[in-house]
Amino acid sequence: MSTETFFASCPRGLEAVLAREVAALGAADVNSVDGGVQFAGALTLGYAVNLHSRVASRVLWRVGEAQYRGDQEIYAAALKLDWPRWFNVERSLRVNVTAIKAPVKSLDFVTLRVKDAICDRFRAHRASAGKRPSIDTQTPDVRVHAFLSAQTVTFYLDTSGEPLFKRGYRREAGEAPLRENLAAGMLALSGWTPVMPLLDPMCGSGTILCEAVMIAANRAPGVNRAFGFEKLAHFNAAAWLKLKADAQALEKISIQSNIYGSDLRGDALALARANLAALGYPTAVTLKQANVFEMPAPAAAGIIVTNPPYGVRLEDRDQLAAFYPKLGDALKQKYSGWTAYILSADMQLAKKIGLAASRRTPLFNGALECRLFEYQLVAGSMRRSKPAVPASSND
Ligand SMILES: C[S@@+](CC[C@H](N)C(=O)[O-])C[C@H]1O[C@@H](n2cnc3c(N)ncnc32)[C@H](O)[C@@H]1O
Repeated sequence: MSTETFFASCPRGLEAVLAREVAALGAADVNSVDGGVQFAGALTLGYAVNLHSRVASRVLWRVGEAQYRGDQEIYAAALKLDWPRWFNVERSLRVNVTAIKAPVKSLDFVTLRVKDAICDRFRAHRASAGKRPSIDTQTPDVRVHAFLSAQTVTFYLDTSGEPLFKRGYRREAGEAPLRENLAAGMLALSGWTPVMPLLDPMCGSGTILCEAVMIAANRAPGVNRAFGFEKLAHFNAAAWLKLKADAQALEKISIQSNIYGSDLRGDALALARANLAALGYPTAVTLKQANVFEMPAPAAAGIIVTNPPYGVRLEDRDQLAAFYPKLGDALKQKYSGWTAYILSADMQLAKKIGLAASRRTPLFNGALECRLFEYQLVAGSMRRSKPAVPASSND
């Protein structure tokens, strides 16, 4: 069995979590870089990472690398690779090019040249009888990624297809839903395990709750979806079916969870309910319509993981400036004994919560730079970062 090299991408800030996931699946040479993790193993390890990783965005299989100085050398490097060995000419194709500090004028032009090289290679291949793959930028069968650094071009076949945050359970997306792999990453960073009570008091469409239920049920996140590797020539269907069957055998049919979710809006809760039902665990979470400022804690201690509303427009920001101090007060008064993990993109708003964060982890929600703030809400040990009254009379 040959050893292949992979790059799994993830939301920035979750590289260490992803490195632990791939190492636990048996990967060798695990190396975290900005935005992902490189690792090595059999081709079927790529299947396993697609199936089991909760935080990866894509798993790319490295198929070639070359030094280059310009567009023409990138074309030549792509032409050299034996594409017909990896996929059939009848498969539709999309090429993506990304770059850091690459000495090229246009990434669109490089994309075109890589696509030309792949098609030219197919045309020259005897078994393709002069045919070339068709291009489909929306729902391609095969995605080729080329990554350019200053001097090196690396070619990858995408083994994931649709990005991995698409688990296949989301029926409805609410206002500003989190990506599923970011929600799972927040849970991983919180250290929550299914024996602990968990609350998302601003749950929206319930992404954090759904990811927590999947963890509690031992559901492999990719068990109900298709993957890019199924359309590649080397697809080992028997190995894939076995991996899936093994994962399904470990899944719990019903779970006794102490997972709680609430939201101010009834329509948001309806979305969360629909998503939990689509997941197959309609009653695993205790859902309640409630205002976070008024809701009593559902247990004596536990973990809060949440992403409160955030403002893009100016008027939203004014409203939120009032929201955060009230949230801080509610946490302080009603949740002593709990630890809260709050994702926020706005460092100024986060300061207004008036609690001292014990940890701030940089995390990216797409291109939006955020922090996951940790607040240990231990009675008597909380303090305001800028006390409104003398600390001694308040703490
Ligand atoms: C950014 S969204 C959360 C998105 C959610 N993580 C998801 O994946 O769908 C923030 C949520 O906070 C809710 N919210 C706003 N003010 C609230 C309050 N005072 N009490 C409870 N929920 C509130 C909104 O209704 C919205 O659903």
